[in-house]
Amino acid sequence: MLSSYGQTEICYDDVGQGEPIVFLHGFPHNRTLWNAQLAALQGEARCIAPDLRGFGGSRGAPPYSMDQYADDVAALLAALGIGPAVICGLSMGGYVAMAFWRRHRARVQGLVLMDTRAGSDPPEGRARRDEMIALARERGSAAVADAMITGMVGKRTREKCPEVVDEVHRMLASAPVEGVIGGLQALRDRPDSTATLGTIDVPALIVVGSDDVLTPPSEAALMHAAIRGSTLEIIADAGHVANVERPAAVNHVLAEFLGKVRRSRGREGGRTR
Ligand code: MLT
Repeated sequence: MLSSYGQTEICYDDVGQGEPIVFLHGFPHNRTLWNAQLAALQGEARCIAPDLRGFGGSRGAPPYSMDQYADDVAALLAALGIGPAVICGLSMGGYVAMAFWRRHRARVQGLVLMDTRAGSDPPEGRARRDEMIALARERGSAAVADAMITGMVGKRTREKCPEVVDEVHRMLASAPVEGVIGGLQALRDRPDSTATLGTIDVPALIVVGSDDVLTPPSEAALMHAAIRGSTLEIIADAGHVANVERPAAVNHVLAEFLGKVRRSRGREGGRTR
């Protein structure tokens, strides 16, 4: 489906019924990252998965930023008439989820931060983003996919599930090059969200693959310590795209979390925020 505002077009999937959950993909992914979650969870929740601007079928003028991605998601939810939702973001989607919390918290009834981190890029990380931008300009998205694929999936997945590695590589390589460049600029310039964590007062779930080398379990532990009452789930034998590598395990922890959010909302007596 397609939602437009101004010059911006956001493609999204919207399946199932019940409390809404919004799935935000990472870099340079698209909404198909969440196919297994939409298939499994649509029986118990309304699952909305947008392509962030510049990725998949979504278009919007640069410059891109985490705030801009978050505002696009808020505009989509407003267009769909959706009130507070669970916001679930993986990696860059997690950075967007934290921006969404800062800018649109009345629209959040729970947060899932998956394979992500709160900190911004150190100087050497910013320099690597610039190198990747040059690579994308000169050799396109397939070269970026080649450079990223080893860190993107875990060791066990690379050894035992080559078809999963190929599927993830195809997704990265198919990203529009303008979206890749805009995304890298947004990643390079994103703010530090560490101080944001202490302000989160809705149910929060942190998920990380045990073998994630891009945003390792140590980062998840820091977020868990900083978010009061949060739950930490470590997915064994999964890397950076834990939801693709171990979908059943991730679906299970998401279903449990959705039940927890429903119960906490019940205790609030349906209070609207
Ligand atoms: C992602 O998966 O979104 C990226 O690896 C995030 C990052 O590079 O910081």
